[in-house]
Amino acid sequence: MSRTNVKSPKEIEGMRVACAKAAETLVAVGEILKAGMTTDDINRFVHDDTLARGGVPAPLNYRGFPKSVCTSVNEIVCHGIPSAQVLNDGDIVNVDVTTIYKGFHGDTSATFYIGNPSPIARRVTECARRSLAIGIEEVREGATLGDIGAAIQQYVEGEGFGVVRDFVGHGIGRRFHEDPQVKHYGKRGTGERLRAGMIFTIEPMVNQGTYAVEIDPADKWTVRTADRGLSAQFEHTILVTKKGCEVLTARNAVLRNSENVAALFV
Ligand code: MF3
Ligand code: CO
Ligand code: CO
Repeated sequence: MSRTNVKSPKEIEGMRVACAKAAETLVAVGEILKAGMTTDDINRFVHDDTLARGGVPAPLNYRGFPKSVCTSVNEIVCHGIPSAQVLNDGDIVNVDVTTIYKGFHGDTSATFYIGNPSPIARRVTECARRSLAIGIEEVREGATLGDIGAAIQQYVEGEGFGVVRDFVGHGIGRRFHEDPQVKHYGKRGTGERLRAGMIFTIEPMVNQGTYAVEIDPADKWTVRTADRGLSAQFEHTILVTKKGCEVLTARNAVLRNSENVAALFV
């Protein structure tokens, strides 16, 4: 285990600000979502809102990603590319915002309801939301990465859903993706021990059916459930402290668009 993943006080302060910007943009986009919009409309909003707050959207041109935000609708697990796709009443859409501000990355996502999703769509979304909260509960100096994964896996599988294995949370800071990898499954007491000053994301993807996923062979980004069941995800950037953690992307704004409120807060 290396010391390099423990941030300095200056880096932590930089991360607090970048994460607050990402959270503000996510709340702002949650307020404007509605049936009839396209995922390109989400992209335009997130791009402009990020710049208006003095930031830069990290996804744009990241390893060739063509847009400024990931928008993942229904059976899309993550890394959905904004397009002319129209949001319909009953859809669920994950919007994953990453802002670079003064060299630091803040990464956060939520799954939103468009109009009135089905009971199963709501159950999958609520399970993803709760699973992130349950993972966060494990975070404190001395706990292990395996404690986080085990808690999430136990909860999600107990609800009868699958938790994705092929994509994980990650360390974050001056780089978008740093060590360690944060698995959303695993065994208690295994893996790296957490130390105060580490910063990483937790971002469980919960599938209605199998946890297996496929990457679109044409665009090499879009991740779909293998069985085409629904999938939902929430993500926070977390600072480990001696007694617990600080959720750097916590949302302290209140959503005015009541349609989407249920899905936003972890
Ligand atoms: N925001 C995603 C994450 O949580 C990563 C997206 S990479 C991109 O790690 F290139 F698709 F933007
Ligand atoms: Co992330
Ligand atoms: Co993200």
